[in-house]
Order: sequence, then structure tokens, then C-alpha cells
Amino acid sequence: MEEAVAVEVEGLTVWYDGKRVLENISFKVPRYSVLAIMGPSGSGKSTLLRAINRLLDYVPQARVEGRVRVYGVDVYRENPYKVRRMMGMVFQTPTPFPHLSIYDNVALGPRLHGLVKSREELDRLVEWALREAMLWEEVKDRLNDPPTRLSGGQQQRLALARALAVKPKLLLLDEPTANIDPQNSRKLEESIRRVATQEGVTVIMVTHTPQQALRVSDYVAFIYNGGLVEFGRTRDVALNPSHELTSMYFRGEI
Ligand SMILES: Nc1ncnc2c1ncn2[C@@H]1O[C@H](COP(=O)(O)OP(=O)(O)OP(=O)(O)O)[C@@H](O)[C@H]1O
Ligand SMILES: [Mg+2]
Repeated sequence: MEEAVAVEVEGLTVWYDGKRVLENISFKVPRYSVLAIMGPSGSGKSTLLRAINRLLDYVPQARVEGRVRVYGVDVYRENPYKVRRMMGMVFQTPTPFPHLSIYDNVALGPRLHGLVKSREELDRLVEWALREAMLWEEVKDRLNDPPTRLSGGQQQRLALARALAVKPKLLLLDEPTANIDPQNSRKLEESIRRVATQEGVTVIMVTHTPQQALRVSDYVAFIYNGGLVEFGRTRDVALNPSHELTSMYFRGEI
């Protein structure tokens, strides 16, 4: 059954300036599923995402131990560029390139990585990514506009389209709906479900609400104070948490 696992984290420990912020984290994410990472502020959720795609390489005070495997690739033994090529990331705040058009924001990644051979192919890929992110209808007549003319929620969906355009196997999302309204959040959630179930992308997302985890995720990892308190199928964890901290979190008491 090794084939069915997309991400395997084993004994992952992270320090900043010698202070341990993640301790011995282990879990496996099946392919094409959505894992929600939950936990209080400062518990280490963003750090976990950054350890998976080696963004911590850029943090001089960070030290990582343990193993991360993504689609069979041993992340810390492989070329970091190749590693990041497999993964797309969306952050809490949208960060479009303001000097590039909406179209070029999405087209940049595929161009850089030589994913397309012709303009027609690129057009199709950009449209596909924008449709997947549920943004196409809103921008199809203004693809040459700068992204700064989009609303925050639209910019966040643009960020998703940009991440999808390079056809990642794994999508990492760090509280992607934290700064947008409920309607935009729902659209983003719908996209996330779709790419996992229909486009064969595995998703790990940090979420700040148990309700969102229930709507979009298949699995939940609950992190508290740098430790993995609970991991399991979302429904099992929500209905029958094995740890008091988890049920307190689901009840909104943390
Ligand atoms: N670059 C850094 N250098 C030093 N310490 C850091 C750095 N980034 C995060 N930390 C610390 O590591 C711990 C975990 O931070 P992290 O950002 O992973 O938490 P989080 O769960 O994502 O929190 P939030 O929900 O507020 O986003 C915190 O105590 C934080 O202060
Ligand atoms: Mg965070």
C-alpha cells in the first residue's frame, strides 16, 4: 500500500535558535486527500508546512531533523529546486506580482519551468488554472489588468491559480482564507476539494476553523505546543476525539 501514500512525515523536529518548536511529528497523508492542520496560534503549523517544502532552508536560525517523503522523494536528500517544483504554496496574504498582468501572474510559473510549447497551450493552461480556482468568469475579460485591481478574495484565488498552473502534486496552503470574506472562502474551499478529488492533487492546508476542516478535509492533524496531539479521519476526530485538547479545540474553547 506504499503507493497510496503521498506524504510521509517521520520524526520531524524543528528548532529556531536552539528552541524546539516542533517535536517528533509523524503522520502519513494518502494521495488525493486533503489534510487540515489545526492548532492554536504559535503551535507550529506554518513551520510544519515550511519544513515540508524546505522553505526553512532560507531561515538561518532554523534546524530540521527527521524525514519528509513526498511521492517517494526524500525531500531533504533531493535537490531543493526539484522538491519545490513538486509543490505549490499559497500563503495567508495574497502576493501577486503587481507589475505583471493577471494572465502573466498565472503564466509565469509554466513559462519558467518550460511546461508549454506554444502560446495556445499556455492560454489553455492559464484558463484551466483560473477555472480551477473559480476565478475565470470574473477575470476572463480583463486578463491584461494588473492584479492589484482585484479584490482580496479574488487575489487569493489568483494565488491558488498560480500555484496550480505548474501542476503540483502537492499543494500547501497556509490559512488561505484567513483574510477573506465567507463567500470568497467558500469558493476557495470548493476549489480545494475539486483539485483533490478530480485533478489528483494532494492538499495540506492550515486552517483556523474546525468548521472549515469539516467542510474540506479528509484528515485532521491537531498540533499543540509543537507536538502532534491527534491525527485521523476528520469525522472521527470531530465526533470522537481521543484527546481532551482536541475536543476543547473543536468546541472553540482554545
Ligand atoms: N523565523 C522564526 N524565527 C524564530 N522563531 C520563529 C520563527 N517563525 C516562527 N517562530 C516561532 O516558532 C513557533 C511556531 O511558529 P509558527 O509560525 O509555526 O506557528 P503557527 O502555528 O503557524 O501560528 P499562527 O497560527 O499564529 O500562524 C512560535 O513560537 C513562533 O514564535
Ligand atoms: Mg501560521
